[in-house]
Parts: sequence; C-alpha cells; structure tokens
Amino acid sequence: MRWPRIHSALCWIVAGAALLLNCDDPKPDFGTLPPKPADLATPAPPPDLSTRVDAATVAAEAPPAVVTPATPGKAALFVRSSRCGECHEKFRNEWTGSAHSRANRTPAYRKVMGTASPALRQLCQSCHLPSMAYGQPDDEPNRPSEGVSCDGCHTIKQVAVTPAGSTIQFDPASGSKYGPIVGASGHYFHDMAYSVLHTKSELCAGCHHRMEFQLGGEKRAIPVVLSYSDWQKFGKGKQCQDCHMPSRGTEEVARGSKPRPNVPSHAFGGALAWGKLIRLELGGNAKPGEINVEIQHNAGHALPSGYVDRRMLLRVEFFAANGTKIATEERSYGMQLVDAAGQPAPFFQAVRIAEDRRLVPGRMHVETFKLPTAAAAPAATPGPGPGPGAALAPVAVAPSKVTLSLVAAGTAPELRAVYGEPALVVIKTTSHPLPVRIGGSK
Ligand code: HEC
Ligand code: HEC
Ligand code: HEC
Ligand code: HEC
Ligand code: HEC
Repeated sequence: MRWPRIHSALCWIVAGAALLLNCDDPKPDFGTLPPKPADLATPAPPPDLSTRVDAATVAAEAPPAVVTPATPGKAALFVRSSRCGECHEKFRNEWTGSAHSRANRTPAYRKVMGTASPALRQLCQSCHLPSMAYGQPDDEPNRPSEGVSCDGCHTIKQVAVTPAGSTIQFDPASGSKYGPIVGASGHYFHDMAYSVLHTKSELCAGCHHRMEFQLGGEKRAIPVVLSYSDWQKFGKGKQCQDCHMPSRGTEEVARGSKPRPNVPSHAFGGALAWGKLIRLELGGNAKPGEINVEIQHNAGHALPSGYVDRRMLLRVEFFAANGTKIATEERSYGMQLVDAAGQPAPFFQAVRIAEDRRLVPGRMHVETFKLPTAAAAPAATPGPGPGPGAALAPVAVAPSKVTLSLVAAGTAPELRAVYGEPALVVIKTTSHPLPVRIGGSK
C-alpha cells in the first residue's frame, strides 16, 4: 500500500480551517486550457436507438458485472478518452497501448461478436464495453469503440462482490472522477471523488471476477474470469494494483498540476515486464534420454488467470549443432471446458469443467520431455499450438541445444474455430546446451 498523499490528506482533514491556514494545494496552472468540452456543456445528443442498450434492460437481462446507473433514469454518456488525454496525456498514451483500450476490438473478440446473439453480445459487453449501457455505440464509422475507457474505471462508484461474481455501479451522470487522490481539488472539467476502492482488488473484480453467468434466463455454473477468486486464495495481501499498476515515479498527474509521488502506471502489465516473477529452467535428475523442465511463478493468482478460455503454453524446441530445429513440443495450461458432447468449448457453450490444468503460484511444476532421437525426430508431436512440426528437418543428428519458452495465448489454440488463431506473446525464453547423448547412455 502506498500513502503518498499524506500532505493533501492532512490539508483535506483540516479543510475547514484551510481558508486560514492556506495549506491547500496551490491552484494548478493549466497554461493554455482546452476549451470546455461540448459533451459536458450541452446535454448529450439523443443516442441512436437502433444500437442503444437501455441501462435498465442490461440490468434485467445481464447479471454479470451488471451495469446500473447510480442516478436511475438519468442517462449520461461516458466521456471519450481523448478528452481526458488533453490534460492526462501520459495516462492516455499508456492506456492506448493496453489491453483495456483494445477490449472491444481484438480479432478474437470481434470474431465471436460477428455471430453472437443479442443476449450473448450483452453478456460480453457488460465487461468489454461498459459504456454500451450508456448509449455509446459499439462501433460507428470514424469513431472506433473504446473498450474499457478512462470513464470505464473512473466513473465506478461501487463494486459489490459475491462468490458468484460482481456488480458494478457506474456514476457517469455526476461528472465526478473517482480516484485515489485524497483531496484533489475539483476544477471546471470534472469534480473529484476520493475512492479507496480504486486502490483495492475489488475495483478490478468488477470485471475480473465471474464464476457463473446467466444467458437467456438460464444460470450456468461455468467460470468466465478467474483472476479475483484465484487472488483470494493466492494474493498474499498484495492488491492487483501493486503488481499491475506499479509506480512510474513522481510526476504531474494533469497538465500543469503539481507533481505527486507514485503515479500509477496505466500500461497494465505487458506480459514481458512480469517475466521476472516467473522461473523457467532445466531441472536436474532427468532420466537418460529425457529432460525435466521446471516452472515456478509468484503471480497473485494461478496462470493463466483471467479469462477462462486463455492458455499458457510451454514450448520446447530442440536444435542441432548447426542451428537446425529438430523438434518442437508444446504443453498447454488452462482450464479445459467441454460441451455436452465432451468436446472443447468456449465458456458460453460449455456444460462442465473437464480439467483444471493451471500453474499454481509458489508450487514447482515439473514437465518431462523425451529427447528426440534421430528416428523419432520427424514424428515429434507439435502439440495443439501452431507447431512447426511439419517443417522439421528430417536429419539424423543429436540435439545440442534446447530452448524453453513460456507463451501467453490470448485464447486456447484448440478453440480456433471459435476465436481464430490465438494471439501469442512470449513471456520468457531460456536456452541450454544439451550434453545428454542420444540413446540415453551417459
Ligand atoms: C482498468 C481501470 C482503469 C482505466 C481503464 C484507467 N484507470 Fe486511471 N486509475 C485506475 C486505478 C485503479 C487508479 C489508482 C491506482 C492506485 O492508486 O493504486 C488510477 C489512477 C488514476 C489517476 C490518479 C493518479 C494518481 O497519481 O493517483 C488518474 C489521473 C487517472 N487514473 C487517469 C486515467 C485516465 C486519463 C485514463 C484513460 C486514459 C485512465 N485513468 C484509465 C484505473 C484505471
Ligand atoms: C482540463 C483538464 C482535465 C481534463 C480534460 C481531465 N482532467 Fe482529470 N484531473 C485534472 C486535474 C487538474 C486533476 C487533479 C490533479 C492533482 O490534483 O494532482 C485531475 C484528477 C483526475 C483524477 C484523480 C481523482 C482523484 O480524486 O483521485 C482522475 C481519476 C481523473 N482526473 C480522471 C479523468 C478522466 C477519466 C478524464 C476524462 C473523462 C479527465 N480526468 C479529464 C484535469 C483534467
Ligand atoms: C470495466 C471492466 C474492467 C475493469 C474494471 C478492469 N478490467 Fe482489466 N480487463 C478488462 C477486459 C475486458 C480485458 C480484456 C481486454 C482484451 O480483450 O484484451 C482486461 C484486460 C486486463 C489485463 C491484460 C491481460 C492481458 O491479456 O495482457 C490486465 C493485466 C488487467 N485487465 C488488469 C486489471 C486490473 C489490475 C484492474 C483493476 C485496477 C482491471 N483490470 C480492471 C476489463 C476490466
Ligand atoms: C504478486 C503480483 C500479482 C498480483 C497481486 C496480481 N497479479 Fe495478475 N499477473 C501477475 C503476473 C506475474 C502475471 C503473468 C505474466 C503475464 O501474463 O503478464 C499476471 C497476469 C495477469 C493477467 C493476464 C492473464 C494471464 O494469465 O497471463 C491478468 C488479466 C491479471 N494478471 C489480472 C490480475 C488481477 C485482476 C489481479 C487482482 C485480483 C491480479 N492480477 C493480481 C502478477 C500479479
Ligand atoms: C465478467 C466479465 C467478462 C465477460 C462477461 C466476458 N469477458 Fe472476455 N475478458 C474479460 C477479462 C477481464 C479479460 C482479460 C483477462 C485475461 O485476458 O485473462 C477477458 C479476455 C477476453 C479475451 C482474450 C483477450 C482478447 O480479447 O483476445 C477474449 C477473446 C474475450 N475475453 C472474449 C469474450 C467474449 C466473446 C465474451 C462473451 C461471450 C466475453 N469475453 C465475456 C472479462 C469478461
């Protein structure tokens, strides 16, 4: 936990006397101010009813992360993030590069949206496009959708968490931005609402926690997003923000305002940045002709976490002395859901959990692989991933190097009929010479 705002906090506490003490933060100097935004000054234009989802409808039909207006009957559009960027430029730049800004337009998501029923779309949008309920259209020409926008988090007033999932209460109508700064002074563009919720995992639980869902009036006991329930078991007191929103130092929070310490990053954990919390090595004690791969990590949840249809892949590649790849093998970690016929299925078509094969934090996971022999090399199984097995050089040479990689897969390779080819990000790679002789004799 950080307590960087102590000066402001004290001033806030004595705000009654602040007139006399004059210890309030000096009025920020904004230099040249952007014009007062039209979307706040004038009432929002009537939303296009053909695409608008009424907030009340969403609340009635889509219990997951239910979107309810804090002021019933009073609609207000989410402000677009480009407006926020006029004063919070660095936040906007980081956010633009983050998964949150892409939440409504990754190829995998769009592929499902393309054929989804209205009820399914609503379910997905309750987390991927929270502004939908307030009339921001899914997509318009020249106005690409914003996914989890600034207001998607900073108008959150309350999150109610139960073991089954969460309910978010948004409050865009008040014009207040909910955030962690104690006693930030309001200004013409927006008011401030101090929110301790924004320093806690429960804020993230709003969308990163759903253990059952409802579709077409039917309740299904299938998990959708596991981060928060995992974190309750493995989080060890660290909040999501501690790991996923590390401090980027002392900086001005808004253009021209006084620098504050520990300004939180909004890049939301590029997979690469977290490689140091994951150990990936060749273990000892392998039998002749085999290798043992050890994986251990210290995330605040199992891996993969988050979306249930994600996977983490361990990729093992064997190379000959001349650099030719001899064989590739992959093992997949994740929660395997199946449909009524027992076939792999995305959560929204699944009837049960077939297997939970995820990497639990703190525990050493050991995987054993047979070294390819000259005869076995061409037959090496490429696994369910995009295995380069077909391109294996059919040469009869011993592997002299092995490369181990942990790969985050946005969606399960075996679900490519639903989501398309998975987006792959290599989180960590290590290489080791192989002194082990083919045939197993040491
Ligand atoms: C996924 C949720 C999320 C999104 C999206 C998001 N923020 Fe934040 N923001 C947070 C959280 C959580 C904090 C507080 C983190 C902490 O203190 O540990 C925060 C803090 C802030 C702060 C206060 C900085 C400080 O020093 O405490 C500002 C300003 C801010 N965000 C602006 C923005 C802007 C502008 C955008 C869009 C470009 C944005 N945020 C998008 C969650 C979000
Ligand atoms: C005209 C400039 C301006 C614009 C535009 C603007 N902000 Fe701010 N914002 C500020 C200033 C100034 C502060 C206070 C900074 C401080 O006290 O260090 C602030 C503070 C915040 C905080 C911290 C509040 C708290 O109590 O922790 C959040 C969150 C925030 N803004 C979000 C947004 C979002 C979201 C938008 C777009 C909808 C936005 N801002 C647009 C100037 C602006
Ligand atoms: C309003 C809903 C919402 C809230 C609140 C929210 N998220 Fe997210 N988050 C999402 C969605 C949706 C995605 C997936 C985006 C995509 O399609 O790639 C996501 C993606 C992420 C990712 C990227 C995963 C990856 O594949 O790299 C991280 C990390 C993350 N969120 C952390 C957080 C944290 C930490 C918080 C709380 C401070 C938070 N989120 C709050 C909806 C939300
Ligand atoms: C102790 C640090 C830590 C804490 C606490 C933590 N995470 Fe993570 N998180 C990680 C690491 C490490 C990874 C794996 C590297 C990667 O994929 O980026 C990760 C990955 C993720 C991902 C990407 C999905 C995946 O499987 O790769 C999401 C989403 C996420 N975390 C959300 C959360 C949320 C939400 C919380 C709070 C409920 C949280 N995390 C708490 C360290 C942490
Ligand atoms: C309860 C909130 C919630 C619901 C409902 C939900 N998602 Fe997500 N989704 C998330 C979060 C949070 C992440 C990011 C966590 C992660 O990547 O591990 C995510 C990640 C994803 C990803 C992987 C990243 C990407 O965009 O490529 C896909 C695909 C996806 N969701 C599609 C869907 C579809 C399709 C639906 C509806 C059938 C849906 N989601 C419903 C919260 C939700």
